[in-house]
Amino acid sequence: MDRPPFRLGVLGSGKGSNLAAIADACAEGRLPARVVLVISDVPDAGILARARERAIRAEYMAPGRYRTKLEEEAELAYVDALRAADVEWVVLAGFMRILKAGFLRAFPRRVLNLHPALLPSFPGLEAWKQALDYGVKVTGCTVHLVDEGIDTGPILVQRVVPVRDDDTPASLHERIQEQERLAYLEALNAVFRGPIEWKGRRALVGENTAGAGAAGAGKQTHG
Ligand code: GRF
Repeated sequence: MDRPPFRLGVLGSGKGSNLAAIADACAEGRLPARVVLVISDVPDAGILARARERAIRAEYMAPGRYRTKLEEEAELAYVDALRAADVEWVVLAGFMRILKAGFLRAFPRRVLNLHPALLPSFPGLEAWKQALDYGVKVTGCTVHLVDEGIDTGPILVQRVVPVRDDDTPASLHERIQEQERLAYLEALNAVFRGPIEWKGRRALVGENTAGAGAAGAGKQTHG
């Protein structure tokens, strides 16, 4: 690749297994990128520790007074911090708050999210539990671009996980998380390789992508 590694900013509220997988893939040359900043809305979140163990800058940033979104001032502070670190792509890895238009405008079509179900099934919280309770025989995970809805943005990658008769929410979640790590690497490699060809909501990723392997990563066309 004839450009410096893509600069990633990762936002998370939880234990940080996806951050660890992404950072390790960068360090091992499986992803042409570098995690330059990790931000959490939870002061003692594992994701901050996972980042610091890897010598990645990691900061708690107060989310403000709401429970499900960032307060306006906090959102501006998040954007400022990401911009100051020259972040090119924002990766949500278990970030439990909705991002509003102001944030998304700062990183247009450059914010990725991971959801632990096959969207559009089971959006929202504890999607693995929703899937188990509903009785589906397969579920999985989805990496998508973030738009203003909840888990509604255009899909980049999905991976399937069969549901077993003896699954508990915890066992199913664990197998979904194994696939999440692979899905994120697949999706990130696809957007870096770019340009992704869009047909309406459909991202033509992989061998269907006319521009696969071309330079100008991340540029997107709409068809
Ligand atoms: C993952 O299951 C992801 O799908 C969901 O939050 C969890 C984050 O896990 N959005 P981790 O913090 O990356 O371990």
